[in-house]
Amino acid sequence: MDYPDEMRARLQHVEAVIKDYMPEETGFQKTLLSAMNYSMESGGKRLRPIMLECTYQMYGGKGALVAPFMAAIEMIHASSLIHDDLPALDNDAMRRGRKTTHKVYGEAMAILAGDALMNYAYETASGAFSIAKEDQLGRVAKAFRILSTKSGIYGMLGGQSCDVEFEGRALTEGQVEFINQHKTAALFEASLMTGAVLAGAPEEDVAILESVGNKTGLAFQIRDDILDVTGSEVELGKPIGSDVRNKKTTFVSLFGINAGKDRVERLSAQALDAFDHLSVKHEFLRRMLEELVKRRS
Ligand code: IPE
Ligand code: IPE
Ligand code: MG
Ligand code: MG
Ligand code: MG
Repeated sequence: MDYPDEMRARLQHVEAVIKDYMPEETGFQKTLLSAMNYSMESGGKRLRPIMLECTYQMYGGKGALVAPFMAAIEMIHASSLIHDDLPALDNDAMRRGRKTTHKVYGEAMAILAGDALMNYAYETASGAFSIAKEDQLGRVAKAFRILSTKSGIYGMLGGQSCDVEFEGRALTEGQVEFINQHKTAALFEASLMTGAVLAGAPEEDVAILESVGNKTGLAFQIRDDILDVTGSEVELGKPIGSDVRNKKTTFVSLFGINAGKDRVERLSAQALDAFDHLSVKHEFLRRMLEELVKRRS
């Protein structure tokens, strides 16, 4: 396997899938549609849909059933980023190397575009019910439930609410972990679990994938917090110093960069160990999980 080549091919495929589902910018509401499309355009790493497709394929999944879920998870992610960058939350001006959505379309339209993408994600994912064969309907229902739960009040949104509410407070390690587990790891868990469920993976494997997503997501967020201090805006495509400016307690502000790096390595090793306990293998996905925590962007 040539990892960079395969990553390029998978990324290209994800871009095509996403494009397929994005709305045409027509009608009186076309500014909203344009703001949604702006935030979904390329520049992102597309990690979540790539992971989702990998676990689908890992358990023998074939055909188009997975595509609506791949698009949906990226829409939910993009919705979270639009809102995360708003003045009322992190107040950031750059994302993926371009102006943030509210800087281009204004705050009101950015709020609506975030809402619209969250809703459109479920409109899109529900399309899988129409293409599923009779014996796949139960899997689609289960995947839908995972996607919605991991994105909502017991997942990403729950984490984001604590992240902003607790700004300026000295948090415990447990509170920081709760925030990271919800705002970030939940969508990694959803990606890995949803693909597997759609392909009919055994329950035990889905539980292991949840734990792989959890560890990887925690490591990913600590890496993000490290890069917020040591990274470069050019490489990241978003501003550095956002966490200090917003008085966030992060694993890095609590324990420092080096302890952060150690924790990232430990979590990554735990994620890979869990991954190796699955009943099937996937060389590319394993390598991707390994590379994620070393990333510079
Ligand atoms: C950014 O996610 C938000 C975090 C969870 C840290 P990504 O780093 O996956 O962002 P894109 O999609 O590549 O822009
Ligand atoms: C973001 O955490 C998590 C979500 C958007 C759900 P951050 O606020 O650290 O993400 P960036 O650094 O702005 O991408
Ligand atoms: Mg944030
Ligand atoms: Mg932010
Ligand atoms: Mg950050």
